[in-house]
Amino acid sequence: MRDRVRLGVNIDHVATVRNARGGVHPDPVRAAREALAAGADGITAHLREDRRHITDTDIEALVALCAGSQRPLNLEMAVTDEMLAIALRHRPHAACLVPERREEVTTEGGLAVAGNEARIAPVVSTLKAAGIRVSLFIEADPRQIAAAATVGADVIEFHTGRYCHLQGQDQMNEFSRIRSGAESADQQGIEVHAGHGLDFATAARMLAIPHIRELNIGHFLIGEAVFVGLDAAVRRMRTVMDEACR
Ligand code: PXP
Repeated sequence: MRDRVRLGVNIDHVATVRNARGGVHPDPVRAAREALAAGADGITAHLREDRRHITDTDIEALVALCAGSQRPLNLEMAVTDEMLAIALRHRPHAACLVPERREEVTTEGGLAVAGNEARIAPVVSTLKAAGIRVSLFIEADPRQIAAAATVGADVIEFHTGRYCHLQGQDQMNEFSRIRSGAESADQQGIEVHAGHGLDFATAARMLAIPHIRELNIGHFLIGEAVFVGLDAAVRRMRTVMDEACR
């Protein structure tokens, strides 16, 4: 039987709600603690350049929480000197390099690794030298996968946003693209993760791809928590994923 696929819970959206009122509630660190207790294998948080949701203080507290509970923290970060310095200071289990534009609502599309190898490779090697596992958030495009291998990424996370938005044949075509990309990355010794826009149905469908080792899910779980609570939402996702792997 296939190994358990890890679930990383992204708690950025809890911070978005907190920041809407500028106070301390709801606390993303409390959400992270609850998510771990409910069966999340790790926590994912994106410290954006504009600090629109997660703050530097949140990252400090999340590092402490994950260290204390011996679960991985996956720090999503732009490829900037500032973020590199922050990652080196905190040494999370993993860093996921993502594209970032201030005007976007969320991370719209994958990182352009191809063509930017000279900028990305030294960041990857500096993070790896500090003992941080490096993931690149990319589209399932053969050029990007080859470039990810060239710059020495340990992991690639496929952006599933497009898959989740498409329908019918277009969605099936995107699924095939992700499946081929996952096969190719696996053959090159790169671990494969996936995330963005996933819900119960799309997460289960993604797990038909045997090479996917981890899903990172935020928006849907935090939204679902409004109706059923975070504990129940995470537990349900864990069950859905386990059933999809049987
Ligand atoms: N993985 C990465 C790299 C992301 O940037 C995001 C969004 O912050 C996610 C996963 C989670 O996406 P969603 O919140 O749509 O589930």
